[in-house]
Amino acid sequence: MTGGTAIATPAAFLAAVDQHMVELLADRDGVVVEAARRPIAAGGKRLRPLLVLAARPRAVAAGDAPFDRAAVRAAAALELIHTASLVHDDLLDDASLRRGEPTIGALDGRSVAVAAGDFLFSRAFATLVETRRVVGDDRALAATRVLARSSKLLAEGEALQARQTRQPAITVEDYLERCRLKTGALFAAALQCGAILGGARDDDVQVLGRFGHLVGVAFQVADDVLDSGDASAEVVLGKRPGADLRDGTITLPMLAAIDDDAHLATALATPVADAEVDGLLARIRDAGGIDAARRTALRLAEEAVALVEPLADRFDVVQLRAIAARSVDRMH
Ligand code: FPP
Ligand code: MG
Repeated sequence: MTGGTAIATPAAFLAAVDQHMVELLADRDGVVVEAARRPIAAGGKRLRPLLVLAARPRAVAAGDAPFDRAAVRAAAALELIHTASLVHDDLLDDASLRRGEPTIGALDGRSVAVAAGDFLFSRAFATLVETRRVVGDDRALAATRVLARSSKLLAEGEALQARQTRQPAITVEDYLERCRLKTGALFAAALQCGAILGGARDDDVQVLGRFGHLVGVAFQVADDVLDSGDASAEVVLGKRPGADLRDGTITLPMLAAIDDDAHLATALATPVADAEVDGLLARIRDAGGIDAARRTALRLAEEAVALVEPLADRFDVVQLRAIAARSVDRMH
């Protein structure tokens, strides 16, 4: 675990989380476990672990060893669930690249990818439940409940996305509901777990959850903006832009562009050939879809920050604000 060394900075916390994930995935050999280690080793922004840490109540001193030990487990659990969902998402999308590396499906085949995702998923709950040893049964149970619920919402989000495929008549609210489920729920869970493990008041846990939902949706909108951008976004995305168009995933830049270019809806209702992708991306941009979606992401992040400002005496709002900003800064 934390090796007895005080965790003084977010960087040290993330290093401890990474180390713990390595330990959690080290106890067996074989193709599935080896495959499961790769997307963790490939890195990532580790935003969910940072959210767990950022929700530490001020009443818990920085470097408090029991909180740190519990928070490292919770942060690893959040990152493992997130990675499991990406492994399965890549299967559903038939994606060949993730975090700049070949996907498990592309390297080892679909069956290994299904099992690797399941393995990551199960390791998450195995470590979260062990927080009971440092923070007691009640807090560990409450955090486990939060994670179980958000995992269910994640799956519902993916199912909703499948139902919305090539349906350009969906409303912005339908799209935002999908984002709340597939991204907002896990962001919210990360904050709620951190706050619960630190003994925060129930009403504060609720507010942090709402902050997480908004930041998660802002992050997803920013991700969708990047996917609608030009080839220069590949460095930030770790894969080629235009995947949503190819998959038939209707995103906010597309919905906003349809307002200005109604004929776009017809093109988005049918499979898009590779040769059409660049032309459609240009149409989305020219119709103002990217700018409109960008404004929405920024507005959501601002709304999120406004929610937590009144909690400044009990939580590190500077950290929370920084994460909200980071969730949308990639799209500039
Ligand atoms: C990535 O988003 C995918 C998600 C945020 C959710 C995926 C959820 C599942 C596959 C359900 C299974 C859940 C569990 C808990 C194993 P994206 O597709 O918008 O991003 P991308 O462009 O990077 O693929
Ligand atoms: Mg996807």
